Amino acid sequence: MLKLAKALLEETEKFQSHDLKEIEQFRLKILGNKGELKKLFVAFKDVDVSEKKEFGAILNQLKKEALSKVNALKEAAQKQSHQENEHIDLTRPVNQDRLGSRHPISIIRNEIIEVFSRLGYQVSEGPDIEDDWHNFTALNFPPEHPARDMQDTFFVGKNPDIALRTHTSSVQVRVMENNDPPIRTISPGRVYRNEAISARAHCFFHQIEGLYIDKGVSFADMKQTLLFFAKTVFGEHTKIRLRPSYFPFTEPSAEMDVSCSICSGDGCNVCKYTGYLEIMGCGMVDPNVLENCGIDSKTYSGFAFGMGIERIAQLKYNVNDLRLYSENDINFLDQFRAEF
Ligand code: PHE
Repeated sequence: MLKLAKALLEETEKFQSHDLKEIEQFRLKILGNKGELKKLFVAFKDVDVSEKKEFGAILNQLKKEALSKVNALKEAAQKQSHQENEHIDLTRPVNQDRLGSRHPISIIRNEIIEVFSRLGYQVSEGPDIEDDWHNFTALNFPPEHPARDMQDTFFVGKNPDIALRTHTSSVQVRVMENNDPPIRTISPGRVYRNEAISARAHCFFHQIEGLYIDKGVSFADMKQTLLFFAKTVFGEHTKIRLRPSYFPFTEPSAEMDVSCSICSGDGCNVCKYTGYLEIMGCGMVDPNVLENCGIDSKTYSGFAFGMGIERIAQLKYNVNDLRLYSENDINFLDQFRAEF
């Protein structure tokens, strides 16, 4: 018995730990209700009288030693875990999630929609996959027109009647078929053409086309509307120029140029020293188109226009490679963060 008590005392003196669980286990082993000390006190009464004095002293020493050891170790362990917590730097900035930004094509599209909605135009949308009627025939394209060729148009499967729309004029046919004049609508959307991808051309891009039909709408109305658009988007000093052109669905037809916003019309390498930049096609809606869509061309007239959104973005942001608009390079898109 005496030997066991001495061994426990030695063990207690040697015991070291920083682990609270381990310290508690040690406490239970020595000081617990079913612990060694309890057992030794029970055994005390059977110890030979000659040993009682020494044995009693060792038991008391063991009790004292074990208690103070356990308390000291617990306190140290608690202090240490407290200090570990203090290593967390609460002033460190949190990892911020990167916020997205609007795509430049969306920024320009929204800006153009905003300009025309001030003039009472409403947005209309239609399917990307179109039939021949809405994309070509109703718009007065002759049967042999080159745009109907495989070289220019993506057909869907082997059916020559179904293609990816080549312009959003197809949406305007749908609006005319389903609504009575007056009609004021703009149609933004993606369009597809069978072109090799380069800095200057892409197999898909975005358009906004506009249509205004009412009694007595004239070419002069179109000019004023487009001048208002150009001044709002490119600045108050912008001038416009209309050059005669040809589209199957408008007569007369024109291409519209705006004065170069980089050199203010003096001539620079962006406008190739002409002072002007081409931005859209336009014209008076051909009476055949109105009749194809169920509108009486003797009572009503109208004008239409269409532009590429990438083209406007190129000019506003001076970004010349068209491919950048669909590659979704974060470094490119990040530059438009401040815009809305
Ligand atoms: N639809 C023509 C195009 O895609 C643009 C246009 C629209 C021209 C309306 C004239 C009138 O090129």
